[in-house]
Amino acid sequence: MPESVHAEPLTSAAQRPLNLCDRLQITHLSPQHPSAQTQIDPGLAVISGLSCTPKTLPAQYFYDDRGSQLFEQICELPEYYPTRTETAILQAHATDIARLTGPCELVELGSGSSTKTRLLLDAYTNMGLSPWYCPIDVSGSMLKQSAIDLLEHYPTLNVHGYVGTYEAALAALSVSPLPTRMICFLGSTLGNLNPQECQVFFEQLTRSLQPGEYLLLGVDLQKSTAQLEAAYNDSQGITAAFNLNMLCHLNWRFQGNFQLEQFQHLAFYNSAEHQIEMHLKSLCAQQVNLLALDLTVALERGETLRTEISRKFDLAILQKQLQYGLEIGAEATDQGCPEPTKQLKPLQTWTDPNHWFGLMLCQCQQR
Ligand code: TRP
Repeated sequence: MPESVHAEPLTSAAQRPLNLCDRLQITHLSPQHPSAQTQIDPGLAVISGLSCTPKTLPAQYFYDDRGSQLFEQICELPEYYPTRTETAILQAHATDIARLTGPCELVELGSGSSTKTRLLLDAYTNMGLSPWYCPIDVSGSMLKQSAIDLLEHYPTLNVHGYVGTYEAALAALSVSPLPTRMICFLGSTLGNLNPQECQVFFEQLTRSLQPGEYLLLGVDLQKSTAQLEAAYNDSQGITAAFNLNMLCHLNWRFQGNFQLEQFQHLAFYNSAEHQIEMHLKSLCAQQVNLLALDLTVALERGETLRTEISRKFDLAILQKQLQYGLEIGAEATDQGCPEPTKQLKPLQTWTDPNHWFGLMLCQCQQR
């Protein structure tokens, strides 16, 4: 009998990979989603930031379509070492991570183009496991396209994406279909939260993890001021364009009249606070109106609007803070549902040979 006759039933219906749509689910969480308890009105955040001294602008306004594209370009810049370095650490250790966690659903906060995730998906797939992936991102179009690309590449992958803020998505996550779950928070996005926001974030994270589940955290480490400042002042001016683009976004969203040529990108390392600060410096004395917010702001010449902080960590200190300092849920929180019984325990850390970037695997444990 010819080979092909025997070969015919090789893929039974049960074995054949399901088509793409069967493996994809996307949940859109509106800011008004009941799970988003502390969502503040976006306009209010702009008003309160511009009323602070010194003035600040909410970093979320970086990410309109152009901002998201510019951000992808930043990640490729020769001076911007974090993305490349974190990718190299994952390349070297994704298999170790997969071995430590075993079969595990991957949840990624701020998934973007999901490039780094592929290294983890490869590691789980190489262990013969069918991966489950939950990307969470505010950009629905980016999330959908990345999910489709991944589903085409990994025939046994299932994706359940959430479009919305981390907060809303963490509260809305459904029960993991796999024995455990790992929440990935990469790209040193943790550093873009101030210490208080960081505390609130860890509390929320711990509430959404069950004992035994994991957190994979990627953080940028302290290093020379020259190297840090070069990373946020690239020679092609992409970071400057990204920073200034926030004003375009605000003009569009709130009927504003920021004149971009009257502002200058400024990024410097504040070594006392161990943080890069990004500002927009007003080049003249000027008044800016945001009609939709009924807001007029007076700026002095040389005054700055702070748009982002990027904190730089010391791995040993962060480990201790996670274990002892951040008494997660020990006291009643704003949400009023403390979980004094859980903590995040650092299990293992990995860095690159230069110790520029760190990856930390933590496990949620019963106290
Ligand atoms: N979290 C990364 C960092 O702090 C990426 C990032 C967030 C970033 N906002 C930025 C990079 C603004 C450049 C400019 O580096």
